[in-house]
Amino acid sequence: MRSTLLSLSLLSLLGLSAGQPRHQHQHLHRHRANRAPIAKRDKVTVTDSKYSTTTEVPEVVVYVDQNNNPIRTTTETVVYVPATVEIYEASTPTTEISPLSTKAAPVVESESSSYQTASPTTQQASSSQLVSSADSYPTSSKSASSSAASPSSSSGALHGVSYSPYKGNGECKTADEVDADFALIANDYGVMRLYGVDCDQVATAYAAAKKYGNKLFLGIYDITAVEDAVSTIAAGVQNDWDIVDTVSVGNELVNDGAATVDQSISAMNQTRSLLRSAGYEGPVVVVDTAVAILAHPELCDESDYCAINCHPFFDANTGPDAAGSFVTSTVSSIRSKLSDSSKRIVVTETGWPWQGESNGEAVPGLDQQSTALSSIKTAFASNASNVILFTAFNDMWKKAEAATFMAEQYWGMGGQYSPSDE
Ligand SMILES: *[C@@H]1O[C@H](CO)[C@@H](O)[C@H](O)[C@H]1NC(C)=O
Ligand SMILES: *[C@@H]1O[C@H](CO)[C@@H](O)[C@H](O)[C@H]1NC(C)=O
Repeated sequence: MRSTLLSLSLLSLLGLSAGQPRHQHQHLHRHRANRAPIAKRDKVTVTDSKYSTTTEVPEVVVYVDQNNNPIRTTTETVVYVPATVEIYEASTPTTEISPLSTKAAPVVESESSSYQTASPTTQQASSSQLVSSADSYPTSSKSASSSAASPSSSSGALHGVSYSPYKGNGECKTADEVDADFALIANDYGVMRLYGVDCDQVATAYAAAKKYGNKLFLGIYDITAVEDAVSTIAAGVQNDWDIVDTVSVGNELVNDGAATVDQSISAMNQTRSLLRSAGYEGPVVVVDTAVAILAHPELCDESDYCAINCHPFFDANTGPDAAGSFVTSTVSSIRSKLSDSSKRIVVTETGWPWQGESNGEAVPGLDQQSTALSSIKTAFASNASNVILFTAFNDMWKKAEAATFMAEQYWGMGGQYSPSDE
């Protein structure tokens, strides 16, 4: 309860102070894309594709009003029901959903337990919403990704790239499909950034990275299950730790109000010590947005290097040719807040969509994307390995959302689709 309320305040604070609230929207939908609340009596039932079996968990539930002001906080049993493919693919146009309401799953008519079977689009009609802290800890890592590190051969010469092993229908890619993806892009990038350990992705990406000569930026998406994740990682890379560039813990959780700063840092601390015991000596970091890191530089101070996601597209005053300077000036701002100003800073996601709606001067398009990527590459010409480009392929498993300019699926560089989605 405390953490959720803190998160609410944090989001408001960031929205007010950062001047680029859009920045916060970007990944929220990823966490709730497949949710649709359904009615039940005394328990909150949430359809969620991240669960493969029906799962009941006690959760702190915060009821909020239309303006996201908390009304009441309780502990209730939340029943997660696996989503069907049909729900997954259902495309409901979602408009005018605030960042907080995109996180909100169930909807209630009042403070009583009469849960509506409403879709997220109807939330505004209800008198109050319900935000479950369970949203804070997605167990599936179907989020975006990218990374930057030095390739095994030429250090620092190549950018990293984010990579997600999901097909357009939401299914996991097989080892062969991951191999086919790597075959197309492996030579262009040093590090491949993954976001989670589901879908056997550590093992399938390890096999491909070994074959094509890449390094891996691995991710633990669910910070409440780091022990299992570390075991999965160790098994997936067969204790061949040299191939691991970085292990990240959480992606934009503080930005999304899904975890507190302390929760993020303790999860990282725990992960680091587990990884050290398993034989990995490389960097362990928290990844969050530039906005969240500016507000909480300790996230970087406690990380082995500073890892930020930074998207010029979400700044309405930044056109494609200013993308590079937007990123470098953001990096400078962050540097000025670090307790060690010489610390390495890696931009773990940056890119530009090739399709979607315009955000002021930030206009999507293939030409615009090309201009933005050149601008970013030029700005980081001397340290390409400090940038992970977002993203390798169009993410057809995501959902178009008004809050992210209907562009969420179309950040694949060069408009490229994965062979599995063709
Ligand atoms: C994380 O570990 C660092 C270094 O040991 C320690 O100073 C810090 O207090 C820890 N933070 C949390 C939140 O556990
Ligand atoms: C990359 O190098 C440029 C030029 O030296 C510097 O301004 C920038 O801060 C560096 N970026 C990162 C992420 O280290």
